[in-house]
Amino acid sequence: MAAFDAGGSDAAVFGAIDLSTGEVMGTASVSRELAPAAVGGTVASSASAAHWRLRAMATRKEHRGQGVGARVLGACVRHVAGQGGGLLWCNARVAARRFYERGGLTGCGEEFDIAGITHIVMWRRVDAEETGA
Ligand SMILES: CC(C)(COP(=O)(O)OP(=O)(O)OC[C@H]1O[C@@H](n2cnc3c(N)ncnc32)[C@H](O)[C@@H]1OP(=O)(O)O)[C@@H](O)C(=O)NCCC(=O)NCCS
Repeated sequence: MAAFDAGGSDAAVFGAIDLSTGEVMGTASVSRELAPAAVGGTVASSASAAHWRLRAMATRKEHRGQGVGARVLGACVRHVAGQGGGLLWCNARVAARRFYERGGLTGCGEEFDIAGITHIVMWRRVDAEETGA
């Protein structure tokens, strides 16, 4: 797993690299961003916690279903944990809902459309020093 410079902030970009070819198999990023109201309404007690947004979660087609996404998501969770933990959220494609649920995220609020693709907000708590997804 490689971590790339995300511009000097405590944001992070992760890539799963095939060391034999140098190919990037999967990516994701995390940065601080307040969760939408759907999350606050579900877990009002978390509203004061640090909020982190997960973005750019993707695995190349030919590498899907092999645990690459889970490892990249795990790296994001560990990053948030290392920064003191908090609330991790994303706009998830509903097609990826099961993937995120396996990573401990829960859907909340109404489904909505982004560029013709149905999404739902998903979130989870991350404890400080948590070691896995
Ligand atoms: C969603 C996405 C990131 C998942 O990445 P991935 O690398 O395929 O994720 P994983 O391999 O860790 O898990 C995917 C599935 O493979 C299964 N799997 C994991 N390791 C496996 C293995 N060794 N053998 C067989 N199956 C395995 C998992 O059970 C999981 O099943 P699930 O979909 O029921 O949860 C990927 O499908 C993707 O890029 N989709 C298109 C873009 C997208 O939708 N991104 C999310 C935007 S919100």
